[in-house]
Amino acid sequence: MQNQLVALVTGANKGIGLQIAKDLAARGLTVLVGSRDLERGEVAVKTIAGDARAIQLDVTNPVSIAAAAERIRREHGRLDILVNNAAIAQTGTWDASFEEKIKAGRPSVASLAEVRAVFETNVFGVIAVTQALLPLLREAPAGRIVNVSSSVGSLTLQSDPQNPHRIPSAGYVPSKTALNALTVAFANELENTRIKVNSACPGFTATDLNNFNGTRSVQQGAREAVRLALIDASGPSGSFSNEEGPLPW
Ligand SMILES: NC(=O)c1ccc[n+]([C@@H]2O[C@H](COP(=O)([O-])OP(=O)(O)OC[C@H]3O[C@@H](n4cnc5c(N)ncnc54)[C@H](OP(=O)(O)O)[C@@H]3O)[C@@H](O)[C@H]2O)c1
Repeated sequence: MQNQLVALVTGANKGIGLQIAKDLAARGLTVLVGSRDLERGEVAVKTIAGDARAIQLDVTNPVSIAAAAERIRREHGRLDILVNNAAIAQTGTWDASFEEKIKAGRPSVASLAEVRAVFETNVFGVIAVTQALLPLLREAPAGRIVNVSSSVGSLTLQSDPQNPHRIPSAGYVPSKTALNALTVAFANELENTRIKVNSACPGFTATDLNNFNGTRSVQQGAREAVRLALIDASGPSGSFSNEEGPLPW
């Protein structure tokens, strides 16, 4: 078994996930660059300095998840870090402004098919990938799971009338609330193991997810997830934070 730490980042062919992969590879880790389209993953790997390898992984496809887990078991025998980063705000490549997309996601009008698709990736995908990889994380001396969440998923912040960033949404926003609930649930179940599970918020980052309306760079957006991926035994489990510190649930 290799000594170098092995990390898997889902949805790492672009955006914040790609930057997380770059940062972990720069620290000497072997990074598996999860990409639902293997070719896009292979293109992304060429932009990463260090030991990065593309791995086909569609978080909504059980066959793809099982194949990825089997490959990691065969090639590495364990997994030290899982970053559940892959997510969608809506399906497809819909040519609309960021504002129009937010409007279409309001609870009064949102398409149920869209809401289901968003939950399939952002919530059920995380359960499926984590379940498949837990046996390999248990083999690691200090397994770490980082769920890339968002402060928009904070019920405390969404229900604060003083908060100008409240977003009425039936899909993406509740999917991040549910993801945070999963962070707590997995952390509780795994509290007597060596595995720590935390939620990281990247902040409003310029990526495809928001038509590049975000005000932070991917370098900034990746930092908290990378920090939580590399915490030692004294670090938290079942926490939710951004670069500035803890966030309310
Ligand atoms: N950008 C922000 O302001 C912001 C703020 C808070 C939280 N976040 C979170 O940060 C994470 C990364 O988002 P981003 O902003 O970097 O968005 P992005 O640029 O759109 O990247 C999303 C990634 O997820 C992948 N993906 C989508 N569905 C997938 C599936 N079924 N299986 C595997 N991969 C899939 C995409 O792959 P394809 O290229 O194949 O589509 C892409 O690699 C997400 O969890 C997001 O919710 C972002």
